[in-house]
Amino acid sequence: MDQARQELYLREMEISSWQVRMPAADPVEPPSAAAPVVLPEAVKDSGAKTKAQSLPEVVPVEPQPTADIDTADWPVLEAAVTACKRCALHSSRSRAVFGVGSQQAELMVIGEAPGADEDAQGEPFVGRAGQLLNEMLSAIGLPRQQVYITNMLKSRPPNNRNPQEAEIKACMPYLQRQIALVKPKVIICVGRVAASTLLERDESLSQLRLEQHQLPGTSIPLRVTYHPAYLLRSPSDKAKAWADMKLLRQLLVATD
Ligand code: URA
Repeated sequence: MDQARQELYLREMEISSWQVRMPAADPVEPPSAAAPVVLPEAVKDSGAKTKAQSLPEVVPVEPQPTADIDTADWPVLEAAVTACKRCALHSSRSRAVFGVGSQQAELMVIGEAPGADEDAQGEPFVGRAGQLLNEMLSAIGLPRQQVYITNMLKSRPPNNRNPQEAEIKACMPYLQRQIALVKPKVIICVGRVAASTLLERDESLSQLRLEQHQLPGTSIPLRVTYHPAYLLRSPSDKAKAWADMKLLRQLLVATD
């Protein structure tokens, strides 16, 4: 991407004084194509009985065997998400929000959960936060269409409340399968919910973003940055997010 174009994206992000550099980074072992995605114990599906017990009795849930999801191809997986009733959120959502972008993407972006715009349109990150996410990606030369974008939860929590543990567990097999199908070279978690859940770490986001991680059970490098919705509320942290994006780009270059 030429300098002028990059500066335009940075201005859109309200970051004007950052020089883009591409220093060489330490090589990072790329994920093996066959590597199974084994997520942390705490986020694995814990069985229908546990989930059903923690949900309101009035909303029926229909546990689906995770084995079906674990071997699903893209169309089967998307159909399963669209019809999903594994947690109570199915009764309040307008539609499930599966994921969008390139199925061969080198970078996978994982957010928290759909908001009102995403619930209405059926696509992740299409509201104001999504526009900022697009700018952040464009600033490192990655148009939205070249990455794969999804969320921890495929259904919107009412009033955008925080996801509950049972909801995250119910949805985790879908994310696990999306990661296995895309086989991204690098994952970036935006926001603390995605980062702390996938990494099983309790630290603050400002702590987690300082390290380079690996998705547990895999060799996929994982980085963490601020959620774009947070950046809209706290623009003074955009410079730190830009620093994170530059590290992300270095990592992508190093894994080539
Ligand atoms: N916030 C998220 O975490 N995901 C979306 O898709 C939209 C807003």
